[in-house]
Amino acid sequence: MCGIVGYIGKQKALPILLDGIKTLEYRGYDSTGVAVLNNKINAPKIYYAKSAGRINVLEEKIAHQKNGIDGFAGIAHTRWATHGEPNEVNAHPHFDCKKQIFLAHNGIIENYKELKANLIKKGHKFSSETDTEVLVHMLEDERNENPGFLLEEAALKVLKKIKGTYGLVIIDAREPEKLVAVRNFSPLVLGIGDGEYIVASDASALLKYTRQIVFLHDGEIAVLTPEKHKIFNLRSESVTREPEKIEWTEEIAKKGDFPHFMLKEIFEQPEAIENSLRGRLLSKEGLVKLGGLESVQDKLREAERIIIAACGTAYLAGRVGEYIFEEYAGIPTEVDFASEFRYRKPVFRKNDILLVISQSGETADTLAALREAKQKNILTIGIVNVVGSSIARETDAGVYQHIGPEISVASTKAFTSALSILTLFSVFLGRQRGMSLTMGRRITEELGKIPDLIKQILKSKDQIFEIAKKYESYNNFLYLGRKYNMPIAQEGALKLKEISYVHAEGYGAGEMKHGPIAMINKEFPSVVIAPSDSVYEKMISNIEEVKARRGPIIAIATEGNKEIKQIVEEVIYIPKTLEMLTPILSVVPLQLFAYFVGVLRGVDIDQPKNLAKSVTVE
Ligand code: M6R
Repeated sequence: MCGIVGYIGKQKALPILLDGIKTLEYRGYDSTGVAVLNNKINAPKIYYAKSAGRINVLEEKIAHQKNGIDGFAGIAHTRWATHGEPNEVNAHPHFDCKKQIFLAHNGIIENYKELKANLIKKGHKFSSETDTEVLVHMLEDERNENPGFLLEEAALKVLKKIKGTYGLVIIDAREPEKLVAVRNFSPLVLGIGDGEYIVASDASALLKYTRQIVFLHDGEIAVLTPEKHKIFNLRSESVTREPEKIEWTEEIAKKGDFPHFMLKEIFEQPEAIENSLRGRLLSKEGLVKLGGLESVQDKLREAERIIIAACGTAYLAGRVGEYIFEEYAGIPTEVDFASEFRYRKPVFRKNDILLVISQSGETADTLAALREAKQKNILTIGIVNVVGSSIARETDAGVYQHIGPEISVASTKAFTSALSILTLFSVFLGRQRGMSLTMGRRITEELGKIPDLIKQILKSKDQIFEIAKKYESYNNFLYLGRKYNMPIAQEGALKLKEISYVHAEGYGAGEMKHGPIAMINKEFPSVVIAPSDSVYEKMISNIEEVKARRGPIIAIATEGNKEIKQIVEEVIYIPKTLEMLTPILSVVPLQLFAYFVGVLRGVDIDQPKNLAKSVTVE
């Protein structure tokens, strides 16, 4: 989704703004722009440049711009088009009729049509098709009607008239020592430097400058000058909030020696999982320690049903969680797409828990599902990576993933970390409900070995590359799995789709005969997840059915299984572990396969088309 950066301070704003939006590129965008306020000249002026396409196009344009773009305050934006094509005119920042106020926005203004019609009647001239542009003309209008208004006073008036979601940064040539930032359901964090402030859609853009962060809450307006900031809410009440220190290093948000963030993050999985498990496994006692759940442990003991709501890959982690919770904690569990859950009038019972899973902690549908449950007084728990994100703040309790920023649009380390945490949660709940000490020990001991087992799988990288070379030209794939690995078949297919643009379907292998088998032929390969577990024999039958229709097969199997080698074209081995933990291993070769097919087909892996990392609009 869109990325926003704002800067005010003692340094030249332009390089900081461009650097900031480059860090946010991973969020997905199709056009970009920057506006800088030169506050060190007699009549302060705002210079701007916008362009369709990538940031390098914008940079070239700026290099050829006669007036230059100079100043110590400014705003920049990467746009992911919603209203109007991704062209230069629709790119942000937008400006008022006199080009004095400039604004960049992430989110959607729902009632923009009627507001726009009103402003046009008053003589405002619009240049773009965006919903955003109304905001800047509304600010101008407030200023016209109330000439004494400060920028933040005008902003407050405007915010009370609009419906929708917004993260905003605003500059005004008439108040050159000020930058106003506003947050409402679109993430915005405030970094506090030494005599400077930098605001951005997420913390990764601030790491170069500061670790001191204030997380703005919904409905808050921050007024920044180089020396100080103040925050107030829509009721004009002043808000005091201590800055938090963010632990992420600058390096963790960089690619290092890897060609893509996706590959880096696939290889980071052993360490990411270690971080998710650190201090949480009490193997001797067969217990887990989840500090974030202690305040609600009595309520968890009484829980009679878990409902999991999430989107995309996080949803598929939830589907694995469903199997784990039911088998090991004995709690009925249901999983729903957050985007459906929010609209289907869910019927809650008294001792239900809503568990939301979200790497970013900002996914709009997941947040809406959470709010729906909260409104019904249901206990809400989160598994979230981004500290201080909306979902992390609004859930009653939760578990942080601690995996560092996940930059790649294709989620990998957040998925395996979420599976590890779901396993921890199942032990926590299971031990409250009569899971034996032996079982608790067994699961925690085996879970602790997972990082090393992933390291072993990563050694098959070259073999997987060779397989990808053989199959990169196929245009359709079927992914099959059963039980714990049914959601992994879907996740493998999702990875291939988003990273290589190849059509892939993920199915429960038992469903194959009910439809998908009709498509199988020698041009339609199947990726079959068949570890040596309780459903292995059934998977072998499915493999035979695919073979009988001359479908090529790539199998994921357990080390030592020689039989499968005789019947399929390719085998990628994973080490032996508990059945419930196999998804954390079996997904890794599928991530690598999707990655290599994408690379071989020339896809821009870290910025796949049409996708956004953090889906903050519906
Ligand atoms: O930040 P979240 O975990 O809430 O994101 C949910 C999905 O948007 C995300 O997992 C998406 O499906 C990924 N692109 C998949 O790789």
